[in-house]
Amino acid sequence: MSSADQSTTTSTDPTPKVTNAYKIALLAGDAIGPEIMTQAVRVLDLLAKHRDVEFELLEAPFGAGAYFSHGKAFPDEAKQACDAADAILKGPVGLSHAESQKIPVEEQAERGAILPLRARYNTYANFRPIYLSPDMSHFSPLKQSVIPNGIDILLIRELVGGLYFGAKERGVNADGKRYVKETLEYDENQIRQVLIIGFEQARQRKGVLHNIHKSNVLMSSVFWNEVLEEVRVDFPDVEVIHLLVDAAATALCLNPGQFDVMVMENMFGDILSDQGGGILGSLGLMPSACIGPEKAYYEPSHGSAPDIAGKNIANPYSMIGCVAMMLDMSFGLKAESDAVWAAMRSVFEAGYTTADLSVHEPENKHSDTQSAAAKKVSTTEFGDLVMIELERLLTSA
Ligand code: IPM
Ligand code: MG
Repeated sequence: MSSADQSTTTSTDPTPKVTNAYKIALLAGDAIGPEIMTQAVRVLDLLAKHRDVEFELLEAPFGAGAYFSHGKAFPDEAKQACDAADAILKGPVGLSHAESQKIPVEEQAERGAILPLRARYNTYANFRPIYLSPDMSHFSPLKQSVIPNGIDILLIRELVGGLYFGAKERGVNADGKRYVKETLEYDENQIRQVLIIGFEQARQRKGVLHNIHKSNVLMSSVFWNEVLEEVRVDFPDVEVIHLLVDAAATALCLNPGQFDVMVMENMFGDILSDQGGGILGSLGLMPSACIGPEKAYYEPSHGSAPDIAGKNIANPYSMIGCVAMMLDMSFGLKAESDAVWAAMRSVFEAGYTTADLSVHEPENKHSDTQSAAAKKVSTTEFGDLVMIELERLLTSA
């Protein structure tokens, strides 16, 4: 309530503090998950210190560790925390192949935790930004001449349908041969809702939507494109460019600058978004937002990297990027979100790297003056540098 507020209350009423309080379910996950989550939480603490905002963190077990401690990869404690939260921040889950074998197939982290989380909140639209600022473009394995302006693509992946969630069966057929059957299923509403998101994003950005499909082979893509023709009637200002998914894979390498917003079904999006991480130079640069009708959750696109867990070398960019996406998309804190992005980018633009990032470009501007290796920072050092810059941005605004 501002002092100018025409309130009818008496002057003895204390003016309530205008506080934006948010509940966040915190699912740190497995292996490097807790290490990178610690850095993400530092960002929330810093924002709470400098802005009129409060975050209540509901920590809960989730993933392979949760199976061992609670008997379930997505235990009731985690469901309750997620149900109660305004948004969910999830770290990567899963253990090494050998460790995973100790867990029944249906309770392994992917099938037992991630897919049920997506289904529970119907998080149908997965935003996967594939972004490198021009000053970070030396991280890309692509030639600088291919990405003169960096990379800036928003890949939107359908997340709760298709092969991932279709009927599955295994058995022995009439010839005595073992067989498997997995079904790519969509109803028209599932397709329509994610296409609408794609069109809206294209409208807000450059007015061009790349529709990625395989309609030369798959009936599901023919149907997808039929629904697209219906949806596009409401978006006459958006240009649609159709591209087959295999051709899109090539184009992402040869000329990523042709893409702005891309929309596609679940499995295509899983594969092409990892390729997105490839052209950035690391999946460690890929945060993502999983948006449902009532709730969203935020997770890095990468796995839990058990081989480097506990070494304090994981890149926390994607996890901190998830915080930035959550601030903007779930809480409407756009300026704060922008500050988090700016802080992280300025650290990389100053020449620092993390262990996952190699510098591909021989003429990298930092290599003459300073050895890139000398500027390779740990998980906590990257966090320290981001916090210094973020605090500067928050206090100079
Ligand atoms: C991703 C991951 C997941 C997926 C796995 C871990 C279930 O690869 O988010 O891209 O396939 O969706
Ligand atoms: Mg994937």
